[in-house]
Amino acid sequence: MKDKAISILLIEDNPGDAILIREQLMYTDNQLQLHCFDLLSKGLEFLSSENIDAVLLDLGLPDSQGLNTIEQVRVKKPSIPIIVLTGLDDENIAMEAVHRGAQDYLIKGSTTGSMLFRVIRYAVERKSAEEELKNSLEKLTRALHGTIKAMAMAVAIRDPYTAGHQKRGANLARAIAEEMNLDPKIIEGIQLAGMIHDIGKISIPAEILSKPSLLSNLELSLIRIHPQVGYDILKEIDFPWPIAQTVLQHHERINGSGYPAGLKNGEILLEAKVLAVADVVEAIASHRPYRPAYETEEAMSEITEKQGILYEPIVVESCLKLFKDKKYSF
Ligand SMILES: [Fe+2]
Repeated sequence: MKDKAISILLIEDNPGDAILIREQLMYTDNQLQLHCFDLLSKGLEFLSSENIDAVLLDLGLPDSQGLNTIEQVRVKKPSIPIIVLTGLDDENIAMEAVHRGAQDYLIKGSTTGSMLFRVIRYAVERKSAEEELKNSLEKLTRALHGTIKAMAMAVAIRDPYTAGHQKRGANLARAIAEEMNLDPKIIEGIQLAGMIHDIGKISIPAEILSKPSLLSNLELSLIRIHPQVGYDILKEIDFPWPIAQTVLQHHERINGSGYPAGLKNGEILLEAKVLAVADVVEAIASHRPYRPAYETEEAMSEITEKQGILYEPIVVESCLKLFKDKKYSF
């Protein structure tokens, strides 16, 4: 940024103020490019076609008054630094302007050219640091999604049945979470946990997983260790969602009859309660190595009967709504 000339858009309808700002800034840095417009509409038009580093914005323009002016600039270019330069000396409005995305709030006539220039430089640098941080967070999130997909693929290579079950279960869990109006971050975590919730089954011999008859008690007890194995695989990865815990708890039931820990209602994560219902519905409605698929109605009866006993009622209601009213299908 240091060597590059800064290009500023000034939206100011008072010609005297505009001239004063131009003179102050040009005196400080004659490399600076200043583009002035007296209407917000003209300024926004220019902003969308040119490469601008920051906007100096008056809040009392013929075609826009007040804080809404900031939003209109942000809608046009969300990442542009905005410095409000107004005659209105009001602390509350200044705070509100910052909350709405302005980088700074200056009172006309109270700044020297060098102060104004410094504020602009800081705003541009800060905004670019914020963008960099946002980009690296997005990159990190993409890498974490990739990690989960890679794990799901590893399961698919060994055991296509479990892979398909995980995928359909994850999609249903996401749909239930959306129906429940959960926070988008929680919804994301539920779907990702769903995509690998049975990863612990890689520790179970393939012949047991694909056995075309009912399992013996010994085989069942082997299968029952998969949430713990899944947790052990995932626990060291510092995901921004409780993936390992959700995987560990997806066979817990609210009356304490689940496994591996026999946790009760308040001890089970909401994410795991959503996944539990999606997992059971998918499992009943799908073909199993030892039996054909049942109708979706069978799955709906199972969760309805055990609602409030094994399964969280709000989760069950949302799932029923999806299948009955919204005709959800796998
Ligand atoms: Fe499972």
